[in-house]
Amino acid sequence: MPFPNTALTERLGIRAPIVSGGMVWASGWRLASAVSNCGGLGLLGAGSMTEELLRTHIEKMRATTSAPFGVNIPLLNRHAETHIATCIDMGVPVVCTAAGNPVLYTARLKDAGITVMHVVPSARLAQKAASCGCDVVVAEGVEAGGHNGRDALTSLVLWPSVVDAVSVPVVAAGGVVDGRQMAAALALGAAGVQVGTRFAVTQESSASAAYKQACVDAPEGQAVQFLRDDTPVRALRNAYVTDMRTREAAGTDAETLRALRGKFRAKQGIFEGDLDAGELSASQAVGAISQVLSVANVFDAFQRDLARAIRRLTPA
Ligand SMILES: Cc1cc2nc3c(=O)[nH]c(=O)nc-3n(C[C@H](O)[C@H](O)[C@H](O)COP(=O)(O)O)c2cc1C
Repeated sequence: MPFPNTALTERLGIRAPIVSGGMVWASGWRLASAVSNCGGLGLLGAGSMTEELLRTHIEKMRATTSAPFGVNIPLLNRHAETHIATCIDMGVPVVCTAAGNPVLYTARLKDAGITVMHVVPSARLAQKAASCGCDVVVAEGVEAGGHNGRDALTSLVLWPSVVDAVSVPVVAAGGVVDGRQMAAALALGAAGVQVGTRFAVTQESSASAAYKQACVDAPEGQAVQFLRDDTPVRALRNAYVTDMRTREAAGTDAETLRALRGKFRAKQGIFEGDLDAGELSASQAVGAISQVLSVANVFDAFQRDLARAIRRLTPA
């Protein structure tokens, strides 16, 4: 059974309603172009790139795929303004903004003919994104790897409430690592899924081999949150995360915790593979990932499991 056509595939001109989330230190051109070539929407993770590097990755995308692709820009990033200008200048077809106010850049991107997606953690913020002109909202539940919203809404609660709140296509994110969760997302009214951790643990991801193996080895319950009262992050429990959680429980103030975290923890963990002191952003569903697969194999598995899940619900 082929992937279904949805409002997302039609809006973006793609064949499979699967977006690979922008991921610092993991989603460069190799991963994003493999996803686009498999029929999904590959997003470059600009959050860990300089302007020059982003330009190089966009050029590589153009050289390796003729399918649509996009760039993810976390708006709190110090390069956000420059990255927006770069995407406009280079005619990137889709920009997915996150972690910030969609009012800031959506009109500018839309005026340049760019399709705008925005990541939200609640129905309230989904309405805000839609009302300022975003074409697609990504509803990301608290299961997701990396930064989470403070509302801490689970995917099962969040996805249908966002679907009810807006009329633009909704992409479901947070805890999707296989086709069964994709079937659930579609059943709840989503027009597609955004997948992060499962793609970070692929051959094409630029994350370190140590990070990928740590995800494969991680048992259920290993990816936990910290900085919960400030800017919640979900990552594999290690010496660094345990220390942060202990300090948090003891009442250490947010500023001190932020200083302890520093600026390069994610690079140290994801890219350099420091399993003790680095930040290993990962999904609550990481325990279900048991192999480093190629992107094509991930697509095949999604397609197979999605079809099985739909068949199970279809009367014979
Ligand atoms: C290693 C890693 C890095 C991430 N970096 C970013 C980022 O730079 N920008 C962003 O919007 N989301 C980021 N995310 C979130 C993903 O784009 C995606 O929305 C999320 O991983 C989906 O949840 P899942 O991990 O359960 O699949 C990151 C996630 C991971 C696992």
